[in-house]
Amino acid sequence: MRLSISGLLLSIALLPFVFAVKSQDFKTCSDSGFCRRGRALAARADAAGSSWKSPYSIDPASISTDTSVFFASVRSSLYPEIKFSFEARIHEDGVARIRMDEVGGLRKRYDEAAAWALIEEPRRAKINWVVGKMDTRVQYGHKKEMELKIYHNPLKIVYLRGGREEIVINGDGLLHMEHFRTKQEILEQPDDANNASDESPEAFIENTEQKPFEANPRAWFEGESEDGWWSEQFRTWTDSKPKGPESLSLDIVFPRHNVVYGIPEHATRLALPTTTGPDAVYSEPYRLYNLDVFEYLADSPMALYGAIPLLHAHSTDSTIGIFDLIASETWVDISHPTAKSTKTHWISESGILDVFLLPGPTPNDVFEQYAKLTGPSALPPEWSLGYHQCRWNYISSEDVKTVAQRFDEDDIPFDVIWLDIEYAEDHKYFIWKKSEFPDPIQMISDIASVGRKMVAIIDPHLKRVSSYPVYAEASEKGILIKPASGSGEFEGWCWSGSSSWVDFFHPDSWPWWISLFQPKGNDKTWHWTDSTEDIFIWNDMNEPSVFNGPEITLIKDAIHCGGWEHRDVHNINGMLFHNITSKALISRSAPSKRPFVLSRSFYAGSQRFGAIWTGDNMGTWEHMAVGIPMVLSNGIAGMTFSGADVGGFFGNPDSEMLVRWYQAGAFAPFFRAHAHIDTKRREPFLLDEPYKSIVRSILRLRYTLLPVWYTAFREASVRGIPILRPHYVMFPKDVNGFTIDDQYFLGGSGLLVKPVTQPGINEVQIYLADNQPYYNYYTFDLYRGAESGRHVTVPAPLDTVPLLYRGGSIVPTRERPRRATRLMKHDPITLHVALDKSNSAKGELYLDDGETYANLQGDFIWREFTASTSKGTRIISKDLASIPGNKAVDAELTTYIPSNTFAQSVKDVRIERIVVLGLSKKPRQIKLDNGRILDWSFEDGVSAVGKKEGTTSVLTIKDPAVKITQDWVVNIEE
Ligand code: NOJ
Repeated sequence: MRLSISGLLLSIALLPFVFAVKSQDFKTCSDSGFCRRGRALAARADAAGSSWKSPYSIDPASISTDTSVFFASVRSSLYPEIKFSFEARIHEDGVARIRMDEVGGLRKRYDEAAAWALIEEPRRAKINWVVGKMDTRVQYGHKKEMELKIYHNPLKIVYLRGGREEIVINGDGLLHMEHFRTKQEILEQPDDANNASDESPEAFIENTEQKPFEANPRAWFEGESEDGWWSEQFRTWTDSKPKGPESLSLDIVFPRHNVVYGIPEHATRLALPTTTGPDAVYSEPYRLYNLDVFEYLADSPMALYGAIPLLHAHSTDSTIGIFDLIASETWVDISHPTAKSTKTHWISESGILDVFLLPGPTPNDVFEQYAKLTGPSALPPEWSLGYHQCRWNYISSEDVKTVAQRFDEDDIPFDVIWLDIEYAEDHKYFIWKKSEFPDPIQMISDIASVGRKMVAIIDPHLKRVSSYPVYAEASEKGILIKPASGSGEFEGWCWSGSSSWVDFFHPDSWPWWISLFQPKGNDKTWHWTDSTEDIFIWNDMNEPSVFNGPEITLIKDAIHCGGWEHRDVHNINGMLFHNITSKALISRSAPSKRPFVLSRSFYAGSQRFGAIWTGDNMGTWEHMAVGIPMVLSNGIAGMTFSGADVGGFFGNPDSEMLVRWYQAGAFAPFFRAHAHIDTKRREPFLLDEPYKSIVRSILRLRYTLLPVWYTAFREASVRGIPILRPHYVMFPKDVNGFTIDDQYFLGGSGLLVKPVTQPGINEVQIYLADNQPYYNYYTFDLYRGAESGRHVTVPAPLDTVPLLYRGGSIVPTRERPRRATRLMKHDPITLHVALDKSNSAKGELYLDDGETYANLQGDFIWREFTASTSKGTRIISKDLASIPGNKAVDAELTTYIPSNTFAQSVKDVRIERIVVLGLSKKPRQIKLDNGRILDWSFEDGVSAVGKKEGTTSVLTIKDPAVKITQDWVVNIEE
């Protein structure tokens, strides 16, 4: 390979110790030929100013339409002999899809990203295209408020709402689909290259500083040289680029939207800082290329482990989305040409053009539109919402047992204990290191005895030794990724030394991978016999990470099934592993149970297969802070089951930092502490007081709020609305909130949290976006928001996380401290009613068995609680699932009945307490609709109505004698 073996061994041996942030290991735009070309194209267009004109146009004679699709041929005046197909489709929900591909070329561009990312071919709208001389248009939507205009020459696509332009594609003329060519082509320019062009390039040359026309008639657009066309060098690696140039450049402008979010994964703010223009915050574009970045920077547009090419553009008027469905490396420049607008420039290495325009117009609409395409997130097993204890490594069954015992001795809850790579003999996944784990089944069963689970790591690299049956069989089946030559097995280095990688693009790999997880008794000698259904899977290193590869990943010219180069599929590769492992877990039990698979790499659609985490963060305050916008950003891009390693993967956080990190982690959908093998042990039971008690209380708070989390996960799994909701999602018209990314709401519960991510803090400023009372979770202090927004000061001593109930919310909790989630199944519920300024409130509770798919057959309960006032206050519980046509009911669900099996199993679960905050008057009496008088106590204080702040009134209704499965009414009489 490209590195001497001794040098390689040395660097691997030293990996954990000497590698720091090594930016030089990773490409900048100028290290990458196609990115350089894309940026240079933009620079030439900029220099040419208004005289710049895209060479791409639609051939009017080729236009045809049917009820939903517009077809045409596109050509470029630079290469008139090359043909492109162009297609625009409108879906039933108003999403527009634009596709362009080279036809009849020397080779094919990769067009299978959609097959992996989309859940189905979306239904198309019936519409009427109006084909004119200059453009083709179509109006659609409920009131024909949306319009797509396709300008023929130059090609430009404009999406309008209410007659106003919201998205303009190729308005700046940066569209360029480099066609396949033979190496000599540029030298032998076709005779008619100039003549066939409708517009003389001279006009453009006059305005630029390009070389004279005779030298290269396309230089005004493509540049002078074949920059990085035929092969590329990065440090010691050569990319052979057998297909030559095939990159794709595209400008997408939002003339009326000046904030953009999304395109994770980057360690940066939620509202994406600019990368070009006079005041650009970053000098590099955002890079989407799944990479294992050791000790990544906490503020950077550098690529990380996942890539979701979905962008939200937002303004007080509307939210719209762009989903650029491409699997190859992509760079995105962002600038604000004016204070009101945003320009984005997408530069991808290979693949067809396949772009979706998501019309919104609200953030929730965009979420739903995106979920219709790539699927909502899977509803995970309920236990996976509990706390996960991980480290590299719990080294033996004894170690596992002791850790679990120590949690129990200190009364600290946890749900899952994890095994990192050292459980596997020589890092040969599936094979237990029997010296340390002599009886894995016993170990797993002991942990599972109180409903807890285990997770073990399985990476995609297979140790290349014939005695390792997993490798031997994959090799025999011919399902390993091939080197650039296209034959044999690609060989690289990872944890297991010399390794090969399963090619999950090979259809034969799927049944085989599934078979590895089949329970004992199958006719296999090497399947994972020593496991039970209580152990789940962690798919790490699936970018893939290749220690001796360029940028620590696979060479781009490696070959996958179907002859595709790795460059064509890189960003999808990790998702396939996640996908098939989750299918393997589903199929190992009958009836099927929900899988749990944590992946490091992800792409659009990964949300259907499990959770992800933000990789190898560092134990610093900076990394703790950036973890929040990273998780928010994943969430708005569909990947809502995500979290950051609590404590930081690297380093030894002090107790204060660890406490704050637990608080931040407890408010992330995926809540796991993890640590590098070289760090000191830092399990919560090892902390000194008062830190240990504080961490215990934050873990208990997580468990107390599990009903809220589960309800939010369920909504995400049906509608695609993220579990953590940033301000712009909750208050899309409040411009003050557009850049807020350090506080957020938990599902639709009305809980607003702002984790502390700095040392020595005793209070925080929280922004309240609306004119409602907000109540401190711990102190019952009432703060008032304002119509135009207002900051309030909330105490944040180390033992509390700043957490407010928004007035108008009803929050269900379970307040009995338990060791694990399953033990809470029959625990009673407390309702916290936080009244709004008109004395009303609303909340939801969704529960099911938490592990099977019986919920899809109608086995669940889904309640709505409301509080409303007219002569006293009435608190009502009703069955939401029974309301016909309810939007949030799973579309597949046809069989719901209120007395379903799950409802029966929890029919004795009571509401044990109702706490009402903000009542104006001490009640006279409280009774149920059936006349039963209830017991209560009242502490006077500030009411929800009015202007005062201070400690609010607290009414506690004790044991109201109602059940969670029942309809009931509690009357609070004045
Ligand atoms: C890299 C992962 O990011 C980290 O979490 C894990 O502990 C190591 N691989 C070892 O498996």
